[in-house]
Amino acid sequence: MSFIDIHGHYAWNIDDGMPSYEDARKALELARENRISAIVATPHVTPGVHTKDDIHDFIQRIDDLRMLATEYNIDILDGCELFLNHDYQKALDQNLFIPIENTQYVLVEFDVRKEIGNEQEIEERLYDVQFKGYTPIIAHVERYFKNGLDIERVNSFIESGCIIQVNATSFLGYHGKQAKKIAFQLLDEGLIHVIATDTHRATGSRKPCLNKIFYLLEKKYNYHAIHTLMSENPLHILKNEWLEPVYARESFFKKLAKKLKSK
Ligand SMILES: [Fe+2]
Repeated sequence: MSFIDIHGHYAWNIDDGMPSYEDARKALELARENRISAIVATPHVTPGVHTKDDIHDFIQRIDDLRMLATEYNIDILDGCELFLNHDYQKALDQNLFIPIENTQYVLVEFDVRKEIGNEQEIEERLYDVQFKGYTPIIAHVERYFKNGLDIERVNSFIESGCIIQVNATSFLGYHGKQAKKIAFQLLDEGLIHVIATDTHRATGSRKPCLNKIFYLLEKKYNYHAIHTLMSENPLHILKNEWLEPVYARESFFKKLAKKLKSK
């Protein structure tokens, strides 16, 4: 069994992720220990700030990371985390972003410090990404609902063709109690397509941790469903295939059978 991490700031010295080559090396080592076999490198891209030269530098550094990762037998794919701020249209018009390598998918984020609210703007921005020919993967959805999860809203994101990504560390409470609660609610409701690490460091709370989260979740949820969220669905993305959200909750009878079997 191996995992695919579609969201991580492993490429060093280009955003708030790995500060150095040595840190990137340690993070890759840890990723390997976590049975991660492929990583999409997703440096932050901020429209209105990053230029064509910056995008070029990001791709160069991802290439450097790719070289380093061969030592750990990990495949590295190009990508970015595109901040859909008020200048997003410029980035779309000028192609100042990096879709996931050879696919129609692009990882996008909103401001995590704010409640996502009911602003129509959010839907408009996602629609514009789709109009450009890309499928948005909404990063760490659990972090946007400061006033509690709006299930209908997430459902409408999915119905409109967006992919929902949740951070593995949210299940441990590293993004606060509210994000933890919402991560589990999303999992219970079958509203997640992919779980990824959003790794920023080689130590502390934002390091590669998929193995730990896998075993934490498979105690309570369907084993195959959790595997799909961390391995099969990310692979569909890398192959540019369609994917469905995963219903992970086990039925009462299955849970009982598992319990009896373990006795
Ligand atoms: Fe990120």
